[in-house]
Amino acid sequence: MVKQANYPLPAGFRLGEYRIERQISLGGFSIVYLATDESGQFAAIKEYLPNSLALRREGQVCPDIPEEHLPAFRYGMKCFFEEGRALAGLSHPNVIRVLNFFRANDTVYMVMEYERGRTLQEVIRNERAVITENFIRNIFTRLLNGLREVHANKLLHLDIKPSNVYMRNDFSPVLIDFGAARQAMQNGIPMLKPMYTPGFAPPEHYGHRDLLGPWSDIYSIGATMYACLSGAAPQAADQRAEKDKLIPAARRWSGKYSDHLLETIDCCLRLQHLDRPQSAFALQKALTADVSQDGGRRRGLLGEFVHRKIMPKRYEFGMWLDEFTSTRMGRLRQGIATFRHRIKNRKTKK
Ligand SMILES: Nc1ncnc2c1ncn2[C@@H]1O[C@H](COP(=O)(O)OP(=O)(O)OP(=O)(O)O)[C@@H](O)[C@H]1O
Ligand SMILES: [Mg+2]
Repeated sequence: MVKQANYPLPAGFRLGEYRIERQISLGGFSIVYLATDESGQFAAIKEYLPNSLALRREGQVCPDIPEEHLPAFRYGMKCFFEEGRALAGLSHPNVIRVLNFFRANDTVYMVMEYERGRTLQEVIRNERAVITENFIRNIFTRLLNGLREVHANKLLHLDIKPSNVYMRNDFSPVLIDFGAARQAMQNGIPMLKPMYTPGFAPPEHYGHRDLLGPWSDIYSIGATMYACLSGAAPQAADQRAEKDKLIPAARRWSGKYSDHLLETIDCCLRLQHLDRPQSAFALQKALTADVSQDGGRRRGLLGEFVHRKIMPKRYEFGMWLDEFTSTRMGRLRQGIATFRHRIKNRKTKK
């Protein structure tokens, strides 16, 4: 089936307890909307609608799905649903929060907390000046907190790239757009094209998919850090396996960033999965390591003290803050949600 543009649900459309306000984005696999719930709170709603399998024309609500694509569409929908259910169990400030999940209009919807900000891709494109060594260490250390939580729940993201890292206005990062559903689909039914993104996908995505593991997400994190420096995706892993033209970060940006950071990026981008940091925690340790040995710039006694003792603690403080908010605030949030739910139930009973 030829790729086509699906029409979004119109503004004002009532989708269960939500009202569609406007379309936020249209991807190959889904449409994201800004919506409001009954109390006027904003939510982001992702609608499963792979444009290679289903077509919604203008004015239609339920998409047309040709008979021959029904099995693939249903299988993908089941995976999307299961993925949402798994995500709904996660509560971490660096992982997008899934609030609700339901079926309607012959497809499924994932309701997420609406975040205000822009993607890391947009930051790379429009705000290059903010991308300093500190920025990279800070953002990725915090992002890895979220990734640790994902991996601890036996999930892989599998599509980490600048456009799937959302930067809140306070510059805290959030992982969005989990690809495991697509991953499962590729294994089961070959009708859906692999959805990985060249340049960010690890080599095992292309061939030995049984080797996929936390180290695969680490490759993508390395590629994302590389893209922060270069402004573009690195050479795709399948091409690198044939002729590796990727200039190591340590060579390309020598003297501009610490050797330690550049070597860490190169280490994540190793083609052999066993040569990369094996866990998000291992990479986090590398990113928070003392970099005062690097560069050998003279800072004076006070400067050296700040650089050695205080700067590394900033990243650790960031990690601690995220952990703190994920546990304490997570419980508080759950408490508030349960309370709201009870009040709502009481009102409907009356
Ligand atoms: N929870 C959210 N809050 C605010 N904006 C969001 C949220 N989720 C997604 N978005 C916006 O929608 C865009 C697309 O989201 P996402 O990356 O999940 O889907 P996609 O790339 O279109 O998906 P696919 O590849 O599955 O078709 C994001 O870049 C972001 O701008
Ligand atoms: Mg995306």
